[in-house]
Amino acid sequence: MNLKGKDFITLMDFTSDEILYLLDFAEAIKKDAKSGHFLPILENKNLVLIFSKPSLRTRVSFEIGMRQLGGSSLTLKQDEINLGVRETISDTARVLSGYADCVMIRTFAHKDVEEFAKYATIPTINGLTDDCHPCQIMADLLTIKEHFSKLKGLKLCYVGDGNNVANSLLAGCALVGMDVTISCPEGYEPMSNFLNFANETAKKTGSKVEVVHDPNIAVKDANIIYTDVWASMGQEGEAQARREIFKPYQINSSLCQKAASEHIVLHCLPAHREEEITHEILEKNADIIFKQAENRMHAQKAILASII
Ligand code: CP
Ligand code: NVA
Repeated sequence: MNLKGKDFITLMDFTSDEILYLLDFAEAIKKDAKSGHFLPILENKNLVLIFSKPSLRTRVSFEIGMRQLGGSSLTLKQDEINLGVRETISDTARVLSGYADCVMIRTFAHKDVEEFAKYATIPTINGLTDDCHPCQIMADLLTIKEHFSKLKGLKLCYVGDGNNVANSLLAGCALVGMDVTISCPEGYEPMSNFLNFANETAKKTGSKVEVVHDPNIAVKDANIIYTDVWASMGQEGEAQARREIFKPYQINSSLCQKAASEHIVLHCLPAHREEEITHEILEKNADIIFKQAENRMHAQKAILASII
């Protein structure tokens, strides 16, 4: 599988085989790291990380992951470079292409990452935009595969806001043949391009894609219940109103009882306890949720080692 030079901007740019290959590679890289082997696959390679929004997991997992691969990284925060304000994104892309081997961007408008990638001559990775969060979903699929020893045939039910994480889950689950149900209030559905992609892909991989507004019906037979914050970064002003709208979508013990008996609960984190998930359910699933966070690093190392 040759992915050298390819951007990692949305899962919709990848085939099922490519995603499954990256997951297998991530498992192998993780196994090596756990046994103390760190192959310097990216020696002398440099990654630049650009953040227009806050981050804990994305920044640390990319920085340490890059170091474990023998390379280096450098982080630029919004106040340092003012992406798209101090100079055009196309100029920034061409400047960084002269110094670095790969750039990861976390920002608001998805089109800014596309614009950057258009002008960059090095691979661009999407570290979260308002539209999607593909690196997160690679870690999620890795976590699910480790837990259930398979992906195909499982049902994931995402309960909450039809946001960037929900959009990428739709694409990712459909690509690996998992059934995916999104349960959200009316008016908070995922983006139609992700829904359409998931529906088309599901026809090929033999899975099922649904939007079910009632969470009590949606979680039926779910092997994985997944949630994320109700107000994403950039929506802080709507947080109070959203707390009311999303109340019926909380992951709590009563909702979990309606899922498959051997289900797991995942959360991309950061979590707002007693909002989208109760403290009780988060702690009950803490082992897998923090493994999910750790898997960001292993999944991204596979991406970095493949595209650089
Ligand atoms: N899940 C995730 O992307 O976490 P950060 O926002 O902390 O990077
Ligand atoms: N939907 C959340 C994900 C955080 C990792 C946000 O965009 O803030």
